[in-house]
Amino acid sequence: MKRVLFVCLGNICRSPTAHGVFRTLVERRGMAHLVEIDSAGTAAYHVGNPPDHRAASAALKRGVDLSDLRARQAVVADFEHYDFIIAMDNENLNELKSICPADFKGYLGLFLPLTALSEREVPDPYYGGPAGFDHVLDLVEAASEALLDRIAAELNQ
Ligand code: 4NP
Repeated sequence: MKRVLFVCLGNICRSPTAHGVFRTLVERRGMAHLVEIDSAGTAAYHVGNPPDHRAASAALKRGVDLSDLRARQAVVADFEHYDFIIAMDNENLNELKSICPADFKGYLGLFLPLTALSEREVPDPYYGGPAGFDHVLDLVEAASEALLDRIAAELNQ
């Protein structure tokens, strides 16, 4: 069993997109019983809210349903539970590092460096137009494949 937590700022755009895309991929590969998935935000602004409607509709166009997801804030206890804590950008990563216990043995890092992509951060689409949400999906789809390959290898699947 591997446990994965995706983290962005608000937990209404990028990390729920990653949560939904990765969950769909895990289900398609028949690995849902082997991988636990959640997402969270470093900030509390949107706690309890569903994903941003722009993120939800862009995802649905690619067959990914985000409608059951609700925002929560990342907490120190997440480091006791998750094997992979994956930040969308450097600001998210620095926030997580500031609360990470010294004895955390899992992966705490950015999402995109798991891929061969030259970009390192998933850009925040919140204040932009719809193209930003499609770009997030392109990046997250590629990185989700790479993450699942890594987890499958670790689980000898
Ligand atoms: P996310 O996007 O971190 O990808 O969920 C944002 C959502 C909300 C805000 C900023 C970014 N906000 O400032 O409210």
